[in-house]
Amino acid sequence: MKGIRIAVDGYSSTGKSTMARQLAAALNFRYIDTGAMYRAVTYWALEQGYFQSGSLDKAKLITSLSRLNLDFQFSESEGKPVIHVNGRAVEREIRGAEVASKVSIVAQISEVRRFLVKQQQAIAEAGSVVMDGRDIASVVMPDAELKIFMTADPKVRAQRRFAELQSKGMEMTLEEVAKNLEERDYLDTHREDSPLIQTEDALVLDNTNLGMEEQLNLALGWAKERQA
Ligand code: DC
Repeated sequence: MKGIRIAVDGYSSTGKSTMARQLAAALNFRYIDTGAMYRAVTYWALEQGYFQSGSLDKAKLITSLSRLNLDFQFSESEGKPVIHVNGRAVEREIRGAEVASKVSIVAQISEVRRFLVKQQQAIAEAGSVVMDGRDIASVVMPDAELKIFMTADPKVRAQRRFAELQSKGMEMTLEEVAKNLEERDYLDTHREDSPLIQTEDALVLDNTNLGMEEQLNLALGWAKERQA
């Protein structure tokens, strides 16, 4: 079977990462969660103290990028590749509420985007990859053989994210989760540099009423067509 490149873009909490990861596993392709990379930079900025009373010292963050090494290593306990910041696994830290509320600010910075896109494109060059994010089809892999755009009803997305946070023991109300999602959607689609867009050549996967298996079968069918 041909090793193709698959771009998966879409709104937050549409289940992109889960679908992309399972698709990669089914095809025996590499899986890259680019959202984890933006989250890791945000975690680094928080840890280094670049956020002071909520506002970010962008210049300091940009200068510090040369000291920041990101890589993915497979974690047996998580059952997936997890991101490491200068050799340290930070999976749990990057999924918390603090990072979630700041990541859109970091993702707006062009220097951060260029820093990450370069690494993502280097990975994509090897082919046989499923990469998920917001600008994969439009910027990172404009020549991807398959582009999937994921969406779902905002209420359903909020409910899913709420359940996920609760299962991890993180305390947030459904209203807070819905508000955070709404803010992130706005920032993701309105930022100047590489906003989230549905490219013309993307296939839409609306999973409001679809279970995991149905989504995976749909995406696998598309992938097989492109591999033929
Ligand atoms: O997919 P996620 O929710 O983990 O992404 C976290 C944030 O990172 C999200 O608010 C948008 C941003 N992001 C981005 O701007 N570009 C990407 N390719 C991936 C994520």
